[in-house]
Amino acid sequence: KTKGFIFDLDGVIVDTAKYHFLAWKNLANSLGFDFTETQNEQLKGVSRVESLKKILAWGNTTVSDDKFQALMALKNTEYLEFINKMDDSEILPDVPRVLDYLIENNQGVSLGSASKNARVILEKVNLLSKFKTIVDGNDVSKAKPDPEVFLNAAKSLHINPEDCVVFEDSVAGVQAANTANMISIGIGSKAVLHEADYIFNDFTEISTDFINKLINN
Ligand code: G6P
Ligand code: MG
Repeated sequence: KTKGFIFDLDGVIVDTAKYHFLAWKNLANSLGFDFTETQNEQLKGVSRVESLKKILAWGNTTVSDDKFQALMALKNTEYLEFINKMDDSEILPDVPRVLDYLIENNQGVSLGSASKNARVILEKVNLLSKFKTIVDGNDVSKAKPDPEVFLNAAKSLHINPEDCVVFEDSVAGVQAANTANMISIGIGSKAVLHEADYIFNDFTEISTDFINKLINN
């Protein structure tokens, strides 16, 4: 049977949180306040607009709409400087093994990411060709935990949501998958991702046996 396997990008395929952190921290510092790793954690899976809103609120700062747009652009320019230096050494362990196994077994493989930079990142790490379809921050109007991104990914694969599996590292993403009636697989800590149907620290823990069960159930 053909199932849909939908991958989040940031934190699942590559660890870009460190680059988001550096870019947001510089921006916060330029506005006169600090930005911590703990705060950065809370931005996982959160869109760029919503992230900036949260950061400004944490810094007790308000800006005009024009300035808000300028800050978003500034952050992304700096973020892209880090992204442009990426290569396939930054792919998280065993992600290619799982992708290749799914492709060899004729499964639908799609990307479901909040990022508007998803394609450029996949290109940098040489994984663009592995995805049959890509649904990213340019294609959706509602951010995770809204299920829109994953429902669109299922539609793009022509596979029913109930036959889809989502790999996610963020709480919002796990909730989005659950709301979409998909199997949610949390990649990260059990304490954080406890709402997921299954949780693994990383892809090295995901066995061929386990994938076969997902395909055949
Ligand atoms: C992912 C990341 C978030 C990021 C969002 C938007 O969900 O986990 O930290 O803010 O994508 O990314 P973008 O590349 O469009 O700024
Ligand atoms: Mg993520």
